[in-house]
Amino acid sequence: MLASAPSPYARTIAASRRVRWDIEDDVIRGRAFDAHRKFLPDGLSLVGELAFLSPADARFLSQVQGRTYVNLFAVIERYIGAKALDLSRSHALGDQVAVEALVRMTDEELKHQELFRQLEGLMARSMPAGYRLVPEPNVLAQAVLSNGDWSVLALTLCIELFTLAHYRASIAPSEDLCPLWKDVYRFHWTEEAQHAVLDEAEFLREDARTDEAARDRGVTELIGLVSAMDGVLQAQAKEDARYFLENASGCYDAGQQQRIADQVLKAYRWQYIVSGVTEPRFQKVLFSTLGDAQGARIAEALGPLSYAAPAQPDRDPGPVLH
Ligand SMILES: [Fe+2]
Ligand SMILES: [Fe+2]
Repeated sequence: MLASAPSPYARTIAASRRVRWDIEDDVIRGRAFDAHRKFLPDGLSLVGELAFLSPADARFLSQVQGRTYVNLFAVIERYIGAKALDLSRSHALGDQVAVEALVRMTDEELKHQELFRQLEGLMARSMPAGYRLVPEPNVLAQAVLSNGDWSVLALTLCIELFTLAHYRASIAPSEDLCPLWKDVYRFHWTEEAQHAVLDEAEFLREDARTDEAARDRGVTELIGLVSAMDGVLQAQAKEDARYFLENASGCYDAGQQQRIADQVLKAYRWQYIVSGVTEPRFQKVLFSTLGDAQGARIAEALGPLSYAAPAQPDRDPGPVLH
């Protein structure tokens, strides 16, 4: 008889042990951010679509967005870590391999939050004063976690899959990024790869015990979560456009200022929503659980955001509806 394949939980434990890294010894290594290099690659920041920016201001706008990228990951991972801890508890007297996999994921998300806090400290020292992060991690986590597991796990799968897609498609191939900023997301990617596997296993486990009426409620909650995320992005984009304009070297007229603000919002919608919902694996998993009417509700809700994709994508964005 053939031995059965290791479970997703067992596979992630082995990979997690193999790639485990330390914040200071492996990632930061006494380095600071390089102010002469971009942080977020053009495929995510979309700064290349603002042709009137000088190279120095295009670089600064990528750094502002890169700072928010670090900070929003710290915010988002607060709820993801708390949910992973809850899920480990749900297996506590059952599959001990699943418990270990989810405890490791919790531990890694706690480490990532600490890494992102240290990075914000480094960026605050090297960038002009006046930057402001809008969402507060515990407030956002409480709002997300007030929803049922089906929608929270669908959102988490979306986020952790776009984390991987951003690294593979845009960050890894970019040669002009600050070496520390790029390394952070290389190391982060190596641990997030396991999280996405666990998210999928946990989402499908939750879906298997969800009836049609509950799944309908889950779809409504998921649409609400995306809408709440968009509200956060609108507020942060407005703040970041203000901070950029206060510190940019060029002078921009009112029309250009509005185009900058609109472009930052478009970039954030691409980074945190559209690149996730069009990610092929996410579409395959999510839509495998949905009926036609549920899929249509999600596509209709996402329709107004679908403009937020790069004019020249690093990869072809898939359709909003699978
Ligand atoms: Fe993480
Ligand atoms: Fe993660």
